[in-house]
Amino acid sequence: SSRLPLKGKKVLITAGPTYEAIDPVRFIGNHSSGKMGFELANAAASLGAKVYLITGPTHLTIDDNLIHIDRVVSAEEMYNAVHKHYNSVDIAVLSAAVSDYRPKSVADEKIKKKSMVMEVVLEPTKDILASLGAQKSHQFLVGFALETENELENAKKKLSKKNLDAIVLNSLRDQGAGFGKPTNKVTFIDKELKIKSFNLKPKNEVALDIFNEIIYRIND
Ligand code: C5P
Repeated sequence: SSRLPLKGKKVLITAGPTYEAIDPVRFIGNHSSGKMGFELANAAASLGAKVYLITGPTHLTIDDNLIHIDRVVSAEEMYNAVHKHYNSVDIAVLSAAVSDYRPKSVADEKIKKKSMVMEVVLEPTKDILASLGAQKSHQFLVGFALETENELENAKKKLSKKNLDAIVLNSLRDQGAGFGKPTNKVTFIDKELKIKSFNLKPKNEVALDIFNEIIYRIND
């Protein structure tokens, strides 16, 4: 129905940061709060979808009677959780701030302090979104891009390189947008390079705008 346009659809969302262990007590992470992804999950559920939310470490909570939530820590764990659900979903929106690198080896014991330079060798993590693009069949696949320069150009490149159906650009340049903030300002770009820019607004409203754009494109 028009009140529940996602009824019968399954939606996969990723949210939050990932933590990549250095030793048993330390990690490499980032400032993602997970808010945008949790609001995307709430929006999809309110539109009638069955929602799988896969989130990195965050204090946020969600109604787990309504939304199936998988809490993971590392990029590797997020990759595995996402691939468990991907074949059965209709829409996937990847808003997590996945670490691009992880320590090449994880120390078994807490690393001791010494008074000299210390190096941590990093290796790339798997790009979850690119892996979904590479094996896309029926899914409508949406990525996020957080850029600090040449925003539109870089977002369009990601869209085609990762074989996405759309990408949501959020710029760190915009006041009130991004990490930890209650609001966001986004631009939605589809694979025909049709561009729609939205005003700064609360993340729950941003999430509904994003799903409106998706619904319009899966029902054409
Ligand atoms: O290339 P970049 O990391 O900027 O692309 C951002 C998009 O890719 C986001 O949708 C993010 O969730 C996703 N991503 C991912 N796995 C990674 C890195 C990014 O799914 N390892």
